[in-house]
Amino acid sequence: MRSSNGPFNWTAVFLFLSCLYTLFTPALTVKKQDFKTCDQSGFCKRNRAYSDTAISQSSSWTSPYTLDAQSIAFKGGQLTGIVLKNLPQSGENLRLPLTINFLESGLARVSIDEEKRQKGEIELRHGSKARKERYNEAEKWAIVGGQQLSKGAAVSKDSEEGTTKVLYGPASGYEAIIRHRPFVIDFKRDGETHIQFNERGLLNVEHWRPKIEKEPPKEGEENKAEEEQKIVDPAEDESTWWEETFGGNTDSKPKGPESVALDVSFPGYEHVYGVPEHTGPLSLLQTRGGEGNHDDPYRLYNSDVFEYEMDSPMTLYGAIPFMQAHRAGSTVGVLWLNAAETWIDIVKSKLSANPLSLGIKGTTTTQTHWFSEAGILDVFVFLGPTPQAISKSYGELTGYTQLPQQFAIAYHQCRWNYVTDEDVKDVDRKFDKHSIPYDVIWLDIEYTEEKKYFTWDGMTFPDPLGMQKQLDEHERKLVAIIDPHIKNTANYWVKDELVSKDLAIKNKDGNIWDGWCWPGSSYWVDCFNPAAIEWWKSLFTYDRFKGSARNLFIWNDMNEPSVFNGPETTSPKDNMHHGNWEHRDLHNINGLTFVNATYAATLQRSKSEAPQRPFILTRSFYAGSQRMGAMWTGDNQALWSHLKASLPMVLNNGVSGFPFAGADVGGFFGNPEKDLLVRWYQAGAFYPFFRAHAHIDTRRREPYLAGSPYREIITKALRLRYALLPSWYTAFREAHTEGWPIVRPNWWVHPSDPAGFALDKQMYLGSTGLLVAPVLEEGATSVDVYLADETPYYDYWDFELVKGRGMHTLDAPLEKLPLLMRAGHVFPRRDRPRRSSGLMRYDPFTLVVVLGTDAQGAEGTLYLDDGESFDYEQGAFIHRKFTYDAATQILRSEDIGEKGKKSDAYAMSMQGVRVERVIVVGAPAEWKGKEEVDVAEEGAKASAGTRKVDCVFHEASGKKAAWAVVRDPRVEIGKGWKIDFSSGARDKKEL
Ligand SMILES: *[C@@H]1O[C@H](CO)[C@@H](O)[C@H](O)[C@H]1NC(C)=O
Repeated sequence: MRSSNGPFNWTAVFLFLSCLYTLFTPALTVKKQDFKTCDQSGFCKRNRAYSDTAISQSSSWTSPYTLDAQSIAFKGGQLTGIVLKNLPQSGENLRLPLTINFLESGLARVSIDEEKRQKGEIELRHGSKARKERYNEAEKWAIVGGQQLSKGAAVSKDSEEGTTKVLYGPASGYEAIIRHRPFVIDFKRDGETHIQFNERGLLNVEHWRPKIEKEPPKEGEENKAEEEQKIVDPAEDESTWWEETFGGNTDSKPKGPESVALDVSFPGYEHVYGVPEHTGPLSLLQTRGGEGNHDDPYRLYNSDVFEYEMDSPMTLYGAIPFMQAHRAGSTVGVLWLNAAETWIDIVKSKLSANPLSLGIKGTTTTQTHWFSEAGILDVFVFLGPTPQAISKSYGELTGYTQLPQQFAIAYHQCRWNYVTDEDVKDVDRKFDKHSIPYDVIWLDIEYTEEKKYFTWDGMTFPDPLGMQKQLDEHERKLVAIIDPHIKNTANYWVKDELVSKDLAIKNKDGNIWDGWCWPGSSYWVDCFNPAAIEWWKSLFTYDRFKGSARNLFIWNDMNEPSVFNGPETTSPKDNMHHGNWEHRDLHNINGLTFVNATYAATLQRSKSEAPQRPFILTRSFYAGSQRMGAMWTGDNQALWSHLKASLPMVLNNGVSGFPFAGADVGGFFGNPEKDLLVRWYQAGAFYPFFRAHAHIDTRRREPYLAGSPYREIITKALRLRYALLPSWYTAFREAHTEGWPIVRPNWWVHPSDPAGFALDKQMYLGSTGLLVAPVLEEGATSVDVYLADETPYYDYWDFELVKGRGMHTLDAPLEKLPLLMRAGHVFPRRDRPRRSSGLMRYDPFTLVVVLGTDAQGAEGTLYLDDGESFDYEQGAFIHRKFTYDAATQILRSEDIGEKGKKSDAYAMSMQGVRVERVIVVGAPAEWKGKEEVDVAEEGAKASAGTRKVDCVFHEASGKKAAWAVVRDPRVEIGKGWKIDFSSGARDKKEL
């Protein structure tokens, strides 16, 4: 939600701005001056300068970091040693403890610390009480598995002089070649180098040093002093070592300069993806200037960026420091586990020598340069080799996407604000009146009494329970916002407890830190503190959060944290958290810890009845946030450019391990034209998280208000989402167990086709073979969609064949969402229109079988559970695989689930839920005249045997493919069965 700067009357400002806003055409732009460029961030500037020095000296540049050969030890999959940093002036060698863990999963983890800080042999300035060590607790929040050390990893006997070679990974096919002088690591897979550390010599660990107070320059010699300063190596620019001031805020920096940096090269790789959250293309751009490139590095420093701009490396609300490099036949990656402010430079170069002579299978190399302000250097190395393998091991490491409740993947209706409980009930009734499905209605901050969370405004929401009861009648839910800022006001029990229990974030002097946010003066709960999590849990119980019912879920906004009067609209970096860590050390994890506490709280509260899966929407996130809920891309605008930007953003989040993502449908700021709104609903129907939202100053735009024909077209998009919910849910299950994206970019699905590596305007839904290419351009009545191979595709709506590798132009009048079905797939639907997804629980299924013209087979899966409880963890689910075999012409359903304690009970509850229709698209021409098929179901009495069921065949005509429909085969969704299409064709009726 929108924020801005300064401690005064926000409502007045909004009203004033909104008047301006309605008077003039909105031309909203980010206040760039509120956020640092690299040049304005001391350590960013220093590390770029360091890199410039290295590059300008090229061959004469040697990294001052060496690995002390004597120190190296290897035991049980772990290599330890001391990296020495040579200080040329003093000749001193600083000791940097190195650990490389070779993991059973095939990952390697390289960590470098600083001995002096580790041992606390340093002094902090300004009497700071901060911890002296480098922050090493990011793993506590981000990492949940995959840490087992490899038993098979070993130092190779044939290590060359001055190197240590470690063999590891599957069948010991990976090598880490660690050069000692300078310290460089090459990571190889099958004899080929895929990732290099410090190959360009940009490793930099800014060691602790005391501040030497200089005599102030004599009068008249100020210029001279300044000149002297300039001659110094800019990488050692002392002017940015200590206090730094930006936008009127001074950061005391009691620990002095402490950044960590490393260059990571991907030889032979042209494309890199990841490091959300930014706007701009999926395939990341170069960042050191030049035509079409960015000038600044990609920045990760979670911030509430007001009216953010397109195609920018500027930071946004969330950060996942995970990058994948991809070329035909190989995907590799790195996770830079650091929670401080981080920047990433990217440059690409064409290889001049014959790449094959270098043993590299690409013509372009991507070189990246990572730097973080504080903390240890800690990097995980992924050698793939496929995108699927990387997603899986990243999930194993940081946790898989939460399996959400069924309602959470249906449609959400939000605005700032539904103003009264009667308003909410009225909107609810209007959806029903117009037969438009929705599952969740949302309350933004105005429902509270004076922005005090856990309270209701008694004037506007006198009967919250009555409101939730009405919603529950159609299995609908309410989501209410709860933010981390706690109003600093008298007689507010939440604030009183926060203070008396001493659970708030402190300022650098150790007093409770006071900042400005929606409620005015506020305190912030410090969810890094286990005691704060316990307290947070206590706030959500029904007797404390009065007026909240079981169908109320939570939206955690402003958790970067957003602070209206803070530096870069966030917390001062020298604020203090639990354990005496400075805010700078852990900033990017702050939002995650708040969601973690809310997750624990809402889970515990549900346990008082029957445990249900929490649903939480978060704006700020970090690696690991996927375990707890959904994210959205924050405060976008009702502009075509923002609709267009949403696809790469959602796709990028997916390949970066947090696929439960969406953008505000319609655009948050401004009033969308009706065609934009329609197109946004069509695209939004393919966001994993599908929510419409609007700013308080915008006109109402609930779908039923759109008027004909827009209302009908929007309803069609919503119905499509609801019909495909079984396919969506199955895709979420894959994300939950495999770490795979829910909507997938072309490169991820077709990793060998370079022509598709940069595509980011079309998406595949899970493994269904559904390929959507929403219209993203104003006035467009067609879209171009790229097909990676010769597999036939069919138009979802009319079964027209689209075939051939390359670009195809699809018709897309306003009422049509371009959507294709790829041959070789089977996907499930539920076609009966209902008010909400909960009411579809026992509805019958339609299976769509999509066949190729070359009579290839098809397969697909369905995952189904109660959509609410944790019983699926004990086997309470249906998991089927559908296979159509082209040779035998038999479609089968087989069980791929696992039995558990609760399997039978669930199967029982689903008894009688059947497949009501099978549609075969691209049906063989020889089926002409077919009128029936043979159906057999497991468990049916032998006497029942095989049944004949009607089948209707439709011949191909024009571009339209042939198709066949089996109506009501009377087979159960939870049972094994087969439908034999080979029969029935034989006994053609006479004409
Ligand atoms: C929340 O954090 C606690 C403490 O680090 C951890 O034990 C728990 O698993 C986290 N919850 C989730 C859902 O990741």
